[in-house]
Amino acid sequence: MTEIKDILRTMDYGPAPEDAGIVTAWLERHKQGFGHFIDGAFTRPGETFAVTNPATGKALANVTQGSGADIDAAVKAARAAQPRWAALSGHERAAHLYALARHVQQHSRFLAVLESLDNGKPIRESRDIDVPLVARHFYHHAGWAELVEDEFPGARPVGVCGQIIPWNFPLLMLAWKVAPALAAGNTVVLKPAEYTPLTALAFAEIAAECGLPKGVMNIVTGDGETGAAIVSHDDIDKIAFTGSTEVGRTIRRQTAGSGKSLTLELGGKSPFVVFADADLDAAVEGVVDAIWFNQGQVCCAGARLLVAESVAARFETLLKARMDDLRVGDPLDKCTDVGAIVHPVQLERIKSLVAQGAAEGARLHQVGAPEGCFYPPTLVTEVAPASILSIEEIFGPVATLTTFRTPDEAVALANNTRYGLAASVWSENVNLCLDAAAQIKAGVVWINCTNVLDAGAGFGGYRESGFGREGGREGMTAYLAHPRPAAKKGEAALPEPDPSPAAQGEAKGIDRTAKLYVGGKQARPDSGYSYAVMGQKASVGLAGYGNRKDIRNAVEAANKAGGWGKATGHNRAQVLYYLGENLSVRAAEFADRLRSFGASKDAARREVETSVRRCFWYAAQADKFDGMVHQTKTSNVTLAMHEPLGTIGIACPLAHPLLGFVSTVLPAIAMGNAVVAIPSQAHPLAATDFYQVLDTSDVPGGVVNIVTGPRDALSKTLAQHDDVAGMWYFGSDAGCAMVEAESAGNLKQTWVENGAARDWTGREGQGRSFLHRATQVKNIWVPYGE
Ligand code: NAI
Repeated sequence: MTEIKDILRTMDYGPAPEDAGIVTAWLERHKQGFGHFIDGAFTRPGETFAVTNPATGKALANVTQGSGADIDAAVKAARAAQPRWAALSGHERAAHLYALARHVQQHSRFLAVLESLDNGKPIRESRDIDVPLVARHFYHHAGWAELVEDEFPGARPVGVCGQIIPWNFPLLMLAWKVAPALAAGNTVVLKPAEYTPLTALAFAEIAAECGLPKGVMNIVTGDGETGAAIVSHDDIDKIAFTGSTEVGRTIRRQTAGSGKSLTLELGGKSPFVVFADADLDAAVEGVVDAIWFNQGQVCCAGARLLVAESVAARFETLLKARMDDLRVGDPLDKCTDVGAIVHPVQLERIKSLVAQGAAEGARLHQVGAPEGCFYPPTLVTEVAPASILSIEEIFGPVATLTTFRTPDEAVALANNTRYGLAASVWSENVNLCLDAAAQIKAGVVWINCTNVLDAGAGFGGYRESGFGREGGREGMTAYLAHPRPAAKKGEAALPEPDPSPAAQGEAKGIDRTAKLYVGGKQARPDSGYSYAVMGQKASVGLAGYGNRKDIRNAVEAANKAGGWGKATGHNRAQVLYYLGENLSVRAAEFADRLRSFGASKDAARREVETSVRRCFWYAAQADKFDGMVHQTKTSNVTLAMHEPLGTIGIACPLAHPLLGFVSTVLPAIAMGNAVVAIPSQAHPLAATDFYQVLDTSDVPGGVVNIVTGPRDALSKTLAQHDDVAGMWYFGSDAGCAMVEAESAGNLKQTWVENGAARDWTGREGQGRSFLHRATQVKNIWVPYGE
């Protein structure tokens, strides 16, 4: 038996188990199994599966496997409830959200214990992090409900939202999905993960208890098949998914062309950068929060430790010493640091990845862990950048340690991943930290801290970590439909132009072929072919018949124009003003060109005038479309920066050959992107004339690249290209579906309008919404004070 004098000598903690009595009694009351929560009531349990406590392997409850019919019933309830819910005033919806927040607080201990039993996470985390953040999220969004009409004038709810969440933060992910959706006036059908559905079911009881109108929130349990039934349901307007990149990609393909809006919060392999002048003790503590928090089952976990070579040995020693103090075990023990892995399947996945890494030569340092569904905190050294452990998201308590010599090398290593969810940067020199933060491609960068979250700041990724943001203003935007152009009957499929000599009519013989424009230079199309551009009666010139190779060259040129994105808004504004002036000088020439395509004198003049004004409008916006500073934690500023996406592919509208080109290309470049534009297939010559304006206006080579030719074939190559970060397509419905499906490879952000009849000549043709499309928000967390 341990004696007090032994305890005093070792200063070891004794066990401090949390009482699970209330939760056990609740589970006992539900021992017949759970049904779904649909239309304000629980259905009778159907075909059920067992949910287990990962720490003990014992069954906790049986929940129902949701069928297609169940999803249908839930969607019908959500659809029926949506108009009434949206018709409530913001103030009335806010009252419901406040009630949910308060009831979560009242039941916080119950929810924390249930979460730890179901998921295996330490009670300290569920009690001090998960559940308080859930309440915070509902409070914050109650505020948005109150303000939505004033803050988002003209916006309306999207409608019925299908929401699919993972098992790592079951209740918190529910809050991230449900709170903004409801605040904006949507109704939801949510599916929790099959390993961890219990807190969602308890939350459904809480919602009923506090009088949330029936049908507003529906919870259907089940596995991936149930999720797939949500994704494919015809009467759902938006899908919001958090989970693996693989499933996210499948969902992108499945929803392509459906008109459903989509946000994806996917995996990560986030860097944790320790510069030589970092406070190493603080950074070591940061690693504990980065990778051993929630057993490393965190999408934004700092899984790749990148440490300055000069301090790496000391850092490793300190880290190993700290690891020896980690207590792995019973999640309900208040002294436990690292709990159980969510499920034996996930444990096997971690074991198998680590075994592969070890076989490749990586060296492991592990501390003890109990038998069962536990995995020891692990530090991996001598790991090559190409090792599976450096590349794959392990989703377990496993960190790799690599060294670097210079800040540039640190940034290069940090960005050496297909993901871009988060990063953490440690140095006592805030200049160095901010410089690294600006260069790291990630949606969230924590300076001298890690895994800090707040409902007031957006969260979400770059690259294959998905798109869309949750939290803050950006998160609300994702649940609102902004005024859109009316839908028209979709454009019929556009036949490819005919490059054969016979089709070139009278223009044959004279070389009047407008070339492509790549990297600031005119370029002959790789195919050597051209096609006739028709005026009202006859051919008015020839345009180059671009192909895949031309697109690849253009993307390469665009990606080399990176300096444009770093230029100040003021610099870009000057270039755009100059562009407007130079276009204005050549107004008559452009009007003649438009008339040659069949535009009336008046229409041609107006199209050029509007194009000039648009240059000035975007020039004016270039230094004004700023981000925000959020007040999140105390002694912390969270800088929400607008960053360009990178290279954007743009398939311009067919109509208004000059204005359609200018209206889409300018907002993209005003925000610092480079562009590969496919001008109007029918009348590309207005855009090819435009490259002379670009040349004389100091637009750096590679910022705007123009490839003429078969719009849909060229768009497909752009959509598939891994070095293109965004794709805008204004064309046929079939083309919209193709672009969305083909973009799934690197999960690029797309903008398609599914047959919308946008009036390019009027207010719909420009606006801040274009600038939103051209940017993504990076949240940089900067603590201050000693
Ligand atoms: P998952 O992506 O399969 O599951 C997440 C959610 O999607 C669950 O609710 C699941 O039922 C649902 N789902 C699965 N297939 C679906 C489909 N075809 N259509 C619609 N919904 C579907 O993740 P899983 O298998 O649980 O974990 C595998 C790996 O994914 C983990 O090892 C980890 O690397 C990663 N992961 C990443 C998460 C993140 O937040 N970034 C969260 C969970 C897992």
